[in-house]
Amino acid sequence: MDKKKRFTTGYGIPVHDDQASVTTGKKEGYTMMSDVHLVEKLAHFNRERIPERVVHAKGAGAGGYFEVTNDLSKYTRADFLSEVGKRTELFARFSTVGGEKGSADSARDPRGFAVKFYTEEGNYDLVGNNTPIFFIRDAIKFPDFIHTQKRNPQTNLPDPDMFWDFLSLTPESIHQVTILFSDRGTPENFRHMNGYSSHTYMWYSKENEYVWVKYHFKTDQGNKTLTAEQADELASKDPDHATRDLFESIKEEKFPSWSVYVQIMTPEEAKEYKFDPFDVTKVWYQSDFPLIPLGKMVLNRNPDNYFAEVEQSAFAPSSLVPGISSSPDKLLQGRLFAYEDAHRYRLGANHHQIEVNSPKHATANTYQRDGAMNVDGNSGNAPNYYPNSMGGVEPDPSFAPPAIEVQAIIDRHTRPTEDVDFIQAGQLYSRVMNDEQRNHLISNIAGHLVNAKENIQYRQTALFYKSHIEYGSRVASKLGLDIDKVKALSKLSQEDRVKETK
Ligand code: HEM
Repeated sequence: MDKKKRFTTGYGIPVHDDQASVTTGKKEGYTMMSDVHLVEKLAHFNRERIPERVVHAKGAGAGGYFEVTNDLSKYTRADFLSEVGKRTELFARFSTVGGEKGSADSARDPRGFAVKFYTEEGNYDLVGNNTPIFFIRDAIKFPDFIHTQKRNPQTNLPDPDMFWDFLSLTPESIHQVTILFSDRGTPENFRHMNGYSSHTYMWYSKENEYVWVKYHFKTDQGNKTLTAEQADELASKDPDHATRDLFESIKEEKFPSWSVYVQIMTPEEAKEYKFDPFDVTKVWYQSDFPLIPLGKMVLNRNPDNYFAEVEQSAFAPSSLVPGISSSPDKLLQGRLFAYEDAHRYRLGANHHQIEVNSPKHATANTYQRDGAMNVDGNSGNAPNYYPNSMGGVEPDPSFAPPAIEVQAIIDRHTRPTEDVDFIQAGQLYSRVMNDEQRNHLISNIAGHLVNAKENIQYRQTALFYKSHIEYGSRVASKLGLDIDKVKALSKLSQEDRVKETK
């Protein structure tokens, strides 16, 4: 038999039969411990599941490339952005956020938009969403926020009280809540949605001059969304519709692509901008900071194996290449820790060595050694300490990022909700949406908020009212709430509003 076709154990030992265990008889059968093939098979099966991602568990992925279409190398020394036409291999994963691994692709939820660029200076991960902003701006709130989007600890059911209680107690979420309950909360599939870094990142040049940037990936397929009815129908008829759509379109060589742009802000502009440029609950207006073309992302390769590539893919906002750095965005700072830690738990200390995560176009030369599942030769006989005089690898000072001057008072700086937190939500409602989109928004909110307790309905509706009078009034009327009470609550400070709606 052709050796490649031969069925073997995990150690490559030929298997002569896989349909009958070794037993004492044709009918009654005490099974033999000596049937090591059976033991291996049962034992491996018991270990097939790894922990699902604590968020973004349901997703689909594909390989492709990024090509530079506009030279912005005066702003960043990132090698993969150095010249027009330069192509970089990448792997992208799209996901929903709150649902479990088997949940529906059409759920009302932000969509993850994670891209791993295999650059010649190491892997660069851009771990964004399909929304340019987020619900909260301080990492310390993230675990609580996610708990409220998941299941009730007692009933194990999704809980509208938990969901709206937290959001109404966290008014900075209002902008993202407005996006979530618009049609943009249910994109038609992964191909027909935009992606955003959401956060502000730093780009720095070889001269160590820096600017702040936000990334926008605009779908070339056109932005398409589902109505609540369409999303509900898909959830029951084809819960994997977006996963299927991505796979099949690539299989049919209808390769999806995104035009990539950046907004650029100088440090001087950042000091004076009308919004805090590092607050991830806010956008930078495109009229102030226009979109500048950067490149194109194309997805043209389906994974051969879902678990190997998609489930084991590990993206981390801390995986930044020379020329790109983080910013003082408090949410981003927390994320710089959270992802690598999640990977150590989910995949192990050597998750970098898994093929989809390893630096395909750079070499990893670290002084880290050993650990479970070390499969890359463990750096052979090279020295395992630094500094050394044994010819081991050396840091390269030419890659030092710019020094940042900070004068600080270290404290738990609380940031109460400010009126400025409601401006962009109100503008989204009144200036960006058309009548049909506003109608959908109101009915999507009311259809969900109606399931929460009345005091929570009042507290949350007052926040819609504070964003825009018509917005709040329409939600109030759809829910049958007393509009005078909503109006009065909207005038109170958040602290007093909470007291009034206990
Ligand atoms: C996944 C934490 C905010 C986008 C994850 C995972 C964790 C996490 C632990 C699972 C990682 C894994 O097991 O592989 C956090 C924390 C946040 C935060 C602590 C705030 C402090 C955000 C924001 C965005 C985002 C603001 C988008 C701008 C994603 C994406 C994934 C993800 C796209 C899935 C990556 C993949 O496809 O594997 N997050 N997250 N997260 N997060 Fe966040």
